[in-house]
Amino acid sequence: MTRKNDLIPSFPVTRLRRTRMKPFSRAMTQEHHLTAADFIWPIFVTEGNNLAEAIEGMDGVKRFSLDQLAEQTKKALALGIPAMAIFPRIDPSLKDEDGTNALAADNLVCRAIAAIKAASPNMGVVVDIALDPFTTHGHDGLIRHGEVDNDATLEVLRAQALNYAAAGADIVAPSDMMDGRVGAIRGALDANGHSDVMIMSYAAKYASTLYAPFRQAVSANALTELDDKSSYQMNPANSDEAMREIALDIREGADFIMIKPGMPYLDIIRRTSDEFNIPVFAYQVSGEYQMINSLMKTLPEPKQKALVMEMLLAFKRAGCTGILTYFACDIAEWLNRS
Ligand code: PBG
Repeated sequence: MTRKNDLIPSFPVTRLRRTRMKPFSRAMTQEHHLTAADFIWPIFVTEGNNLAEAIEGMDGVKRFSLDQLAEQTKKALALGIPAMAIFPRIDPSLKDEDGTNALAADNLVCRAIAAIKAASPNMGVVVDIALDPFTTHGHDGLIRHGEVDNDATLEVLRAQALNYAAAGADIVAPSDMMDGRVGAIRGALDANGHSDVMIMSYAAKYASTLYAPFRQAVSANALTELDDKSSYQMNPANSDEAMREIALDIREGADFIMIKPGMPYLDIIRRTSDEFNIPVFAYQVSGEYQMINSLMKTLPEPKQKALVMEMLLAFKRAGCTGILTYFACDIAEWLNRS
């Protein structure tokens, strides 16, 4: 079999440096591009007034009180960012074993959705479906008999999705990794007049140490009893299993598939975009953000920009439709300026 590359005449007829010599021909031959529309901006919210708190372990990322959201939403919209993803720091006094505050119609997430939509109905709002910000133990589901109980959790996730849909969320993003959650949530939404609400499934979410700074940011309590989330999040050693997760979620009605974390799982993104016809998103998580950030601090400004661009272009090359990244606003600003 003749492969495409066998048809290339050899050096000196072929000189790949020819097209790299000048900026114009480098621009002409660029295969992948980043635009502001590629990004979803994850934003941390908290109770209180007039707050833009620094987050330990995520340099440069802020946690905002709701009165700040109008300004942040307008800024992101002006930069061309299509959607924001809300992550709440729930007051510890509102947390309990079963995460019941997740179902309260006036909880922090519902009010954040309303604040963003009030600032601009054109900003897409993505919300996480999982119980971890609301539970005292920090797990994503209900604990029964010492285990995270899959089927009992599904009922709560359905109610949580309905709560956020009623508050005006455009996209619900189940990040809990329970079996059957996408179908359960799709069924609940459709039966309650929310058939237009989209589902972005964290389909292949790995049990990753790279979530550590995030857990501090939302002050998820130390995961003591069960130690970690390996009984529901995926084993980082597996890739075929991710394809089964994704196939199931597509069959259950997912509109988008997410792979998380991002950079160490580029192979999973590539396999997904080769094997399925569905928009694929990567979540460049808090630990990745911080790793890049610590190198950034040692570099002059133009190199900082080049570093972040290089890291994000990798996702486009691997086949991503879009990326959730804490760098969303910085990159969009750079892109708009250049
Ligand atoms: C909650 C959730 C997590 C993240 C997003 N949603 C943490 C976890 O599963 O423990 C992590 C995001 C990040 O690290 O930036 N289910």
